[in-house]
Amino acid sequence: MILVTGGTGLVGAHLLYHLAKKEEKIRAIYRTEEKIFAVKKIFTSYTNDATLFAKIVWLKADITDVPAMIPAFVGVEKVYHCAAFISFNSKDYIKMRKVNIHGTAIIANLSIDAKIKKLCFVSSIACIGDSIQGKPITEENEWNKELDNSGYAITKFGAETEVWRASQEGVEVVVVNPGVILGSGFWNTGSGKIFSSVYNGLKYYTEGITGFVGVKDVVKAMILLMDSEVKNERFILVSQNKPFKEILFSIADALGKKRPSHKVKPWQTSLFWRFSSVLSILTKKEPLMSKYAARSAHGVSKYSSEKIMNTLDFKFTKITEVINDACKNVTI
Ligand SMILES: NC(=O)c1ccc[n+]([C@@H]2O[C@H](COP(=O)([O-])OP(=O)(O)OC[C@H]3O[C@@H](n4cnc5c(N)ncnc54)[C@H](OP(=O)(O)O)[C@@H]3O)[C@@H](O)[C@H]2O)c1
Repeated sequence: MILVTGGTGLVGAHLLYHLAKKEEKIRAIYRTEEKIFAVKKIFTSYTNDATLFAKIVWLKADITDVPAMIPAFVGVEKVYHCAAFISFNSKDYIKMRKVNIHGTAIIANLSIDAKIKKLCFVSSIACIGDSIQGKPITEENEWNKELDNSGYAITKFGAETEVWRASQEGVEVVVVNPGVILGSGFWNTGSGKIFSSVYNGLKYYTEGITGFVGVKDVVKAMILLMDSEVKNERFILVSQNKPFKEILFSIADALGKKRPSHKVKPWQTSLFWRFSSVLSILTKKEPLMSKYAARSAHGVSKYSSEKIMNTLDFKFTKITEVINDACKNVTI
């Protein structure tokens, strides 16, 4: 039996489809019924064959709820842990600690108790260190906890630490650290918002650079790693390092929308995130932009995926192809 957490999110839904094509026994946890329909939509974007979706056995559980998670581990040999709470809003920090660190500690403990064969954890480039002397960032670049890291990065690093603890206690693990993940479905949450913003007429762009990867490549790498002899290693998953501007323009072109036309300068975002945090205090609404989102919009971080390419002879899909493919199914 395979257990998937976060199956009702972007990565998990695509992962479930690819697992259903090759595996018979798959259990996925969920919290709300409506998110199961969102997963079904992803399946229908791939195939009309309803038998694949029917293979998934759904179990209602929150990863922070130990009694609810115990039955999820019965008979399980492999675990794909994709669930996380993603936010750059400082008011979400405590909740992120609970879901990302404490939740992953629970997954780690139950994996140890159930003596599972292998655990795959979806981490992030957010918890890999900065470039040294302008060189591309690799898995060896150590994350520096002394820096002003975002709450998301801190909690993903804490989660990864729990997974390495499980490996010390005998569980074979593989960790993937994807860049910004692009793909079809879930356009109103997480990285999917990049597509919905452009669809809804985003006017602004910045010139920061980071690593991007297609969701299909992420799940392909996860399954290959889980089926391989590789263990206790982490792998950056970045197809290409690209400016945000180029990504936004490619999405606009693929959707037949107008390209964002106003370049935003660093001082403007710097002013805007401060203004929006004051506004959020006054209106009690979520800030439109956080300090960390503002910083990453202008930052330049370039990643190397040579390790996964050499280990698995892995080839990434080019980002323009990923975007064109994702935009075939508008999911607003
Ligand atoms: N998207 C990116 O650009 C990106 C980049 C690097 C790494 N990652 C990592 O990749 C993983 C998947 O990301 P994603 O983009 O697929 O995120 P997503 O679409 O926001 O999905 C998050 C998933 O986690 C589940 N979840 C959240 N809190 C939970 C809880 N307390 N108990 C059980 N399930 C819970 C959600 O369930 P509900 O549906 O019930 O809310 C959903 O299934 C995450 O670990 C994320 O940190 C993402």
